[in-house]
Amino acid sequence: MKVVIMRELLPAGRKPLEECFEVVSLGLDASREEMLAAAAGADGLVTDLTFPVDGELLDAAGPGLKVVANFGVGYDNVDLAACAERGVTVTNTPGALTNATAELALALAMAAARDLPEAERDLREGTWQGWDPARWRGFELSGATIGVVGAGRIGGRFMDLVAGFGGERLYTARSAKPELASRHGARLVELDELLRESDLISLHLPGGPETEHLIDDRALGLVKPSAILVNTGRGTLVDSKALIRALEEDRIGAAGLDVFEGEPAFDPGFLTAPRVALAPHIGSATFRSRDEMSRIVAANVTAVLEGSPAPNPVTA
Ligand code: GLV
Repeated sequence: MKVVIMRELLPAGRKPLEECFEVVSLGLDASREEMLAAAAGADGLVTDLTFPVDGELLDAAGPGLKVVANFGVGYDNVDLAACAERGVTVTNTPGALTNATAELALALAMAAARDLPEAERDLREGTWQGWDPARWRGFELSGATIGVVGAGRIGGRFMDLVAGFGGERLYTARSAKPELASRHGARLVELDELLRESDLISLHLPGGPETEHLIDDRALGLVKPSAILVNTGRGTLVDSKALIRALEEDRIGAAGLDVFEGEPAFDPGFLTAPRVALAPHIGSATFRSRDEMSRIVAANVTAVLEGSPAPNPVTA
């Protein structure tokens, strides 16, 4: 049976696949045309968030395709209905990247709160004039009201990580999370209340049409002028132009962003806006997480192609 890795899978996942199947790996620079051609006759596809898995790709693979294993927890790049229509199982890699992503959210929160990227630039560019009582004042997280938008696995872990700061915890979620109430005294609230009350707002929602531009001009109109916004979910959650305006007009305190609309492009306004910490979508990029994600991809492909239930199926 043939498995096509549409871009790259680390050896922790590629090697076990190679032991069982014919494996073709296209590499990071594969064009859409190359992907469509290579998919022909595949039993399994290994995909990732950087390209759409749609009817066109599924049809290029043909009727033998049984599994699309998406490398990542998010799957907004996958047309689930198109996969279901063709009887193709879709899988993801939940759990493996929970710690890595929550830790990056904390790193961005702290970097944004103290404007670390800009402070470092002062040193690197040789413009530092020496210790200054007024310059480089930022925000403290101790005692902060921290709001987690989308308290799933990663949002919940983020709440654990920030426990040492004390202060109040708010969250939004589809249903109440008693464990967050008991561990952190966290309260389930409507988004608007969370935006109004929080000193730090961390977004942990999936992408897709339902969450697109959740944080827009209206939402940013509710936040405290000292609030810090962190996004390690998907770039589409935030209206970039609205956030840049809010930063430039001091209507929000700071922002820490790992994800962007239209990656790898991003709004150049983020390069000049004040008090922003930026990262190039590295939330899950730890040695441990990426190896584990790779193993999970392989386990899902192998299970489906051997006729067993996928360990990590996703459905609409
Ligand atoms: C990364 O962004 C993922 O969805 O795993």
